[in-house]
Amino acid sequence: MTTTSYLNPPPLAFTANRLEGRVVFITGASSGIGQAAAKLFAKEGAKVVASARRIDRLKSLATEAKRQGLSVMPIECDVLDEDSIAKAIAAAIKEFGRLDGAFNNSGLSGKRALLHEASVEEFDQVIAPICAGYFFVLNTKLKRC
Ligand SMILES: NC(=O)c1ccc[n+]([C@@H]2O[C@H](COP(=O)([O-])OP(=O)(O)OC[C@H]3O[C@@H](n4cnc5c(N)ncnc54)[C@H](OP(=O)(O)O)[C@@H]3O)[C@@H](O)[C@H]2O)c1
Repeated sequence: MTTTSYLNPPPLAFTANRLEGRVVFITGASSGIGQAAAKLFAKEGAKVVASARRIDRLKSLATEAKRQGLSVMPIECDVLDEDSIAKAIAAAIKEFGRLDGAFNNSGLSGKRALLHEASVEEFDQVIAPICAGYFFVLNTKLKRC
């Protein structure tokens, strides 16, 4: 067995509890950047509220976090649906009493196409969840906090 010493130091800690106790609400936490952020924020000590439409993926994320002693609360939320946003934020506030931070990340990348091949419908599909994620979600949070 190797003991730690000056010449054999312990592994560096990659987190510093910079979000200790903070309640952070993430939209689009079921995949990609949002999911990675949920894991990182939780490792930094945050109580993460992980929201998206695919609740099964959020539940898996929460289970994995719990196994590591981290706090991730899965909440279903469609940022294009005001009622869904209101319910999600109410559930988070009921659980933690407050919200301290937001990562408004929901959005779709859309298909890759040349500009002249893109349609208004495709533009709306990409832009709507991004704008709604910022405007409606923050708007509701600020009214409640
Ligand atoms: N990856 C990049 O290189 C890049 C570059 C620039 C900007 N971005 C932006 O960064 C954000 C995340 O990108 P990503 O690559 O991580 O994409 P991703 O893996 O496709 O994740 C998108 C997330 O947004 C959620 N979402 C989509 N529509 C939603 C809705 N109506 N309500 C709630 N959640 C919704 C999805 O969850 P559900 O489907 O489960 O609801 C998913 O969790 C997007 O806004 C994207 O436009 C990404």
